Amino acid sequence: MRIVCLSGDGIGPEVMPQAMRALAALPLPLELDERPFGGAGIRATGDPLPRATLDACLASDAVLLAAVGSPEYERAAVRPEQGLGRLRQALGLFANLRPVHAEGVDVLIVREFAGGLYYGAKGTRPDGTVFDTLEYHPSQVERIARCALDFAQRRAKRVTVVDKYGVLETSRLWRDVVDAVAVEYPEVAVDYLLVDNAAMQLVRDPGRFDVLLTENTFGDILSDVAAVATGGVGLAPSAGLAESGPGVFEPIHGSAPDIAGQGIANPAAMIRSAALLLEYGLGHPDEARLVEEAVDAALIAAPTRDLGGSATTAEFGDAVVGFLEAAVGRPV
Ligand code: NAD
Ligand code: IPM
Ligand code: MN
Repeated sequence: MRIVCLSGDGIGPEVMPQAMRALAALPLPLELDERPFGGAGIRATGDPLPRATLDACLASDAVLLAAVGSPEYERAAVRPEQGLGRLRQALGLFANLRPVHAEGVDVLIVREFAGGLYYGAKGTRPDGTVFDTLEYHPSQVERIARCALDFAQRRAKRVTVVDKYGVLETSRLWRDVVDAVAVEYPEVAVDYLLVDNAAMQLVRDPGRFDVLLTENTFGDILSDVAAVATGGVGLAPSAGLAESGPGVFEPIHGSAPDIAGQGIANPAAMIRSAALLLEYGLGHPDEARLVEEAVDAALIAAPTRDLGGSATTAEFGDAVVGFLEAAVGRPV
């Protein structure tokens, strides 16, 4: 099984090796292929998503991605984040699963990943007005609604749709489409919540949610809110899935330029993204569980600075590998 590893920028090249070590500790035939991407891609080839990197991703079984972005490109015409959008589009990713766990909390944020403000019409009018457009086709809403309802069916059977009903036309489309699809899932309870209220509830009482279904931008923002309400962005992984073909598995956090180069970033979200890759990308849920358990144990044994501990990135990785080696001594 071939996994393309994209370290990217900032803390990316610090956290990625810890996930690669965890994967290498498993008794699975995995080939890890590192490629330049993001700012590193721009420096190597002038393109944040070099052709050879994209070809390797298209030919892979799954893509493991750390983070891209760097202050030096903030106002540049060619930016690392453009590579991220192009990669997601090229692989046809439409669902981004962002699970959030803590004591008494088990929320799955299902972020629509192919539409909305990110990919709607953009431009400048003759008078100088600049616009980004929030657009959804009913078929885009239907496929992500089915995805969320399918997950809810296998979980606590509750879906909360987050929107801005009353202001956005797209929210009214989402409610019509979700209501229609939900008829096919009589066991799943569907309710609706306004996005500002949802942000507040996620901070106040994240344990009340099962599956949160929302459009691209709201899902981006709410997943950072949910992560910090349950321990921090250094803990939260994601799985970007297509209808077929390789998915992209990446932490929800960015390249953290404020702490890059110090060796103190928390690699838990990165290693948990590798666990999601094993489960959803390669169909190895048992090995995924082993990696998740090793991360949970390392969070107690060797917490990093963001969690009030003093372990370095590499020391956290050492702890994960140690727990994995002890576990794979036993049959998987
Ligand atoms: P960020 O997520 O990189 O950092 C936000 C805060 O969280 C910072 O204080 C950072 O130090 C901290 N943090 C993040 N990850 C951490 C970790 N693993 N361990 C400990 N602390 C951690 O967000 P930002 O600073 O707003 O963005 C920086 C760059 O990252 C920007 O260029 C942005 O576009 C990019 N970005 C990329 C991705 C991605 O590649 N998927 C995601 C988000 C942001
Ligand atoms: C994320 C990031 C990206 C997004 C940015 C870097 C384009 O914030 O993966 O959450 O908004 O999707
Ligand atoms: Mn984000």
